[in-house]
Amino acid sequence: MNLSSNNIRHLLTTSDPVAIDDLFEEASRTRDEVYGRNVFMRGLIEITNHCRNNCLYCGIRRSATVHRYRLSPEQILQCCAEGHRLGFRTFVLQGGEDAWFTDEVLCRLLEDIKRRYPDCAVTLSLGERGRDSFRRLRDAGADRYLLRHETADADHYASLHPSEMSFDHRMQCLHDLRDLGFQVGAGFMVGSPGQTVDTLMKDLEFIQTFRPEMVGIGPFIPADGTPFEHERAGSVELTLRLLAIIRLLHPHVLLPATTALGTLHPTGRERAIMAGANVVMPNLSPQDTRTLYSIYNNKLSTGSEAAESAADLRLRLQAIGFDIPDTRGDYEK
Ligand code: 5AD
Repeated sequence: MNLSSNNIRHLLTTSDPVAIDDLFEEASRTRDEVYGRNVFMRGLIEITNHCRNNCLYCGIRRSATVHRYRLSPEQILQCCAEGHRLGFRTFVLQGGEDAWFTDEVLCRLLEDIKRRYPDCAVTLSLGERGRDSFRRLRDAGADRYLLRHETADADHYASLHPSEMSFDHRMQCLHDLRDLGFQVGAGFMVGSPGQTVDTLMKDLEFIQTFRPEMVGIGPFIPADGTPFEHERAGSVELTLRLLAIIRLLHPHVLLPATTALGTLHPTGRERAIMAGANVVMPNLSPQDTRTLYSIYNNKLSTGSEAAESAADLRLRLQAIGFDIPDTRGDYEK
């Protein structure tokens, strides 16, 4: 497929259904060539919704009036035990930027998880930290780190974040993580306020040059109590096109079919897989905290989104011709 910037712009904007079907088909075939018809499963543990940041889009931003919680290390280990029993071999510890989770607390937790589950990968998704902190987490056993870049356009970044956050620091973190030997995940929301075809082209250029091992993209969904609560949600269709384009630009990338897609469309995640995605991240958090991790409205937390329904998810994926292998699902060079 022609992946010149002109053609990518065309694919992002065309209403020609044949061109889009071809795009999805070729992306799906490309994924098959690298990873086979496998979808890797990650158990998502939302460890805290405390956050020191005030991102304009996010439902757990500092100034949002949501009930705050954090899981204890014991609760997190309990989630891992349950996840391991259900067949998960990657645990993703995700949370807001919460100073309670010091390097000491996280390192001890990582060492405990790795000792109990040496066959598992641990991914962290805890926002920006200093290079020394990242190094300690890596030394304690963390394998991967997800930190979405949110947008590769500095002005757009500034319009989504308060002035104390900086695009340059975000990029610095991503480079530090890469240097320290993490498998790194970047990514962005589709349809965030102020996004244009031009900013999306910058996101795609960034992905092509940085080549993150993982790219998380999902539609923007307004969150109550945020400055963007009345903005329109991003488009499922555009998200699927972007997933497919990213697969073609970076064939080895690990590409999740995100919860946000499943939230906006009942078969959003299946459609993502048919468009080239190859990761699903069911929720392993304790039942009673799931609804509190409300980064956007109506976030799915039950049904096939829940880790307990791993068997159901497996059936749904088998129905469209995919297997969930019981491996860590590392990036394949
Ligand atoms: N809609 C969709 N995604 C969101 N995120 C945060 N807020 C929203 C929202 N309102 C995404 C951001 C962040 C990730 C954890 O969730 O991209 O990096």
